[in-house]
Amino acid sequence: MIEEIKRLKEEKDVVILAHYYVDGAVQELADFVGDSYFLAKKAKEVTQQNILFCGVSFMGESAKILNPGKRVIMADELADCPMAHMVDIDRIHEVRKEYPDVAVVCYVNSTAEIKAESDVCVTSSNALRVVEKLPNKHIFFIPDNNLARYIAKQMPEKEFIFNDGFCHVHKSIVKEEVLKAKELHPEALILTHPECTEDVVEISDFVGSTSEIIDFATASDANVFIICTEVGVFYELEQKNPQKKFYSVGHRQFCPNMKRITLEKVKDALETLQPEVVMDEDMRVKANAPLEKMLELAK
Ligand code: 13P
Ligand code: SF4
Repeated sequence: MIEEIKRLKEEKDVVILAHYYVDGAVQELADFVGDSYFLAKKAKEVTQQNILFCGVSFMGESAKILNPGKRVIMADELADCPMAHMVDIDRIHEVRKEYPDVAVVCYVNSTAEIKAESDVCVTSSNALRVVEKLPNKHIFFIPDNNLARYIAKQMPEKEFIFNDGFCHVHKSIVKEEVLKAKELHPEALILTHPECTEDVVEISDFVGSTSEIIDFATASDANVFIICTEVGVFYELEQKNPQKKFYSVGHRQFCPNMKRITLEKVKDALETLQPEVVMDEDMRVKANAPLEKMLELAK
């Protein structure tokens, strides 16, 4: 299967981009694996005519928005992030009316329709850097409430308007279970994604995106870590740090949508170059502006 995937990739001029939450077997054969910011940047740099995305729909959409001339294929078109839909477009219009100076800051974990209504996109690794550069006093941060609160806490000079979106995977990591894991491994450092709830973030030793968590653990002198994010990151953590120990805190740190991506589906998508991401051009142009603004401000 792996040999066949490699052959098809060459034959059909395809680059495979994968997120750290997909299965380790898929990460292993991808050309590039990364966090959402890295993957958005990479999608703009690659030279192949076709991009096969191993991740959820908003990631494939972002690759298409940034690369209208390329064919973007999803390994599974049903792999979707529930949080990407968790803001009402009417609510964005209401907030704009209520606060005329507002900047609508949109986490990339959002649909193209939501991005098209926003001023700038952010990812978990660049949100602070991007929002700091905005002149606006009011920030409507959508869709994720937890990431919004994490950023807002570090920027008391701005007034945040919150939305109630969340990631069910990170929300299921609860403080009591993290503390239990810490009791079992008192020497461990707690590394946490900012999509986790505030009480988990507060007891953590480090908070960052998937790549930042991997980089932190790799550079650290510590040898034991409690990981508060989706279990897909264990593949890269263990590859890079075979001598270190990584623990999860429960059995719910598992994104069912990311785990829809299998080697079989990768092979099928390479054979047919389907399912392709298609998007209305007006929508693409509108959604492109906040993504390009993010790439510019996050530099
Ligand atoms: P990052 O890889 O950018 O940290 O994103 C986490 C995530 O939830 C993606 O779905
Ligand atoms: Fe969405 Fe959470 Fe899954 Fe990421 S881990 S794709 S934010 S549901």
